[in-house]
Amino acid sequence: MSAQIENRFYELYLEFFNRAEAERRWNIQKDIPWKEANPATSDAVAEIVESFMAVELYLPDYTSKILDLVRKSRGRAWFQANWGYEESKHSMALEQWLLHSGKRTPKEVTDFADLVLSQKWELPFETRGNLMSYTTFQELSTVLNYRNLRRKAIEQKDPALATALSFIARDESAHYQFFQDGVKLYLKEDREKTLEDIRYVLERFRMPAHDLIPNWEHRGKTIIGEKVFSDRIFFKDIMRPILNVLGTSRDELKALGDPTLAASSVPS
Ligand SMILES: [Fe+2]
Ligand SMILES: [Fe+2]
Repeated sequence: MSAQIENRFYELYLEFFNRAEAERRWNIQKDIPWKEANPATSDAVAEIVESFMAVELYLPDYTSKILDLVRKSRGRAWFQANWGYEESKHSMALEQWLLHSGKRTPKEVTDFADLVLSQKWELPFETRGNLMSYTTFQELSTVLNYRNLRRKAIEQKDPALATALSFIARDESAHYQFFQDGVKLYLKEDREKTLEDIRYVLERFRMPAHDLIPNWEHRGKTIIGEKVFSDRIFFKDIMRPILNVLGTSRDELKALGDPTLAASSVPS
């Protein structure tokens, strides 16, 4: 990576961090009306909350493995440390909702977390360029996951869950922005190689850790059934807008090789 791009990464991190400190910090205990968690919220919504909490629980693997890969880049490494702090709040807030709504007992949550963490997440891609592209698509997917789940929480009159999901989705959106800006830097430096990274990642895209989480087959079906996420949402609301904003298209990527771009966003 050139020194110029490296400096720009650090600037991007400072912009991200300063804005987060000034405008985006939230407090799990004070800012969410936990007393308004609704015990009548559907079991399907509770299952999805638990599933997303499970994905967030692999934080020790995400942070340690990604940090190790980017440790020489101060911009990316410092970002990753801050990212880890923000992601840690996501699983904690989701867990709090499961408890306050009475959907799970403390023992159920602890047993589930232990079971989830008995597996280890491995990096899906080995180069920094691939990983940057991957996390761009993955973070915007989480924005959509949480926004669509929030709509359910509002429909089912659960202000606690709706508020928590709105804070979480705002964080995810800021993460997405950072990674998207990062891919733009890579594109500027080496457009052809970066487009190849994007193509490579899209051919293999899956949301993280689903194959590690207990009963994912059922969970994936519930997520699709509740219209929180699907391949269609991935293509329409994630892949297309991102390629657009990066100044490329499926046709351009296809011309690089013969990709099927058969992304499976909610694998069973
Ligand atoms: Fe998250
Ligand atoms: Fe995120």
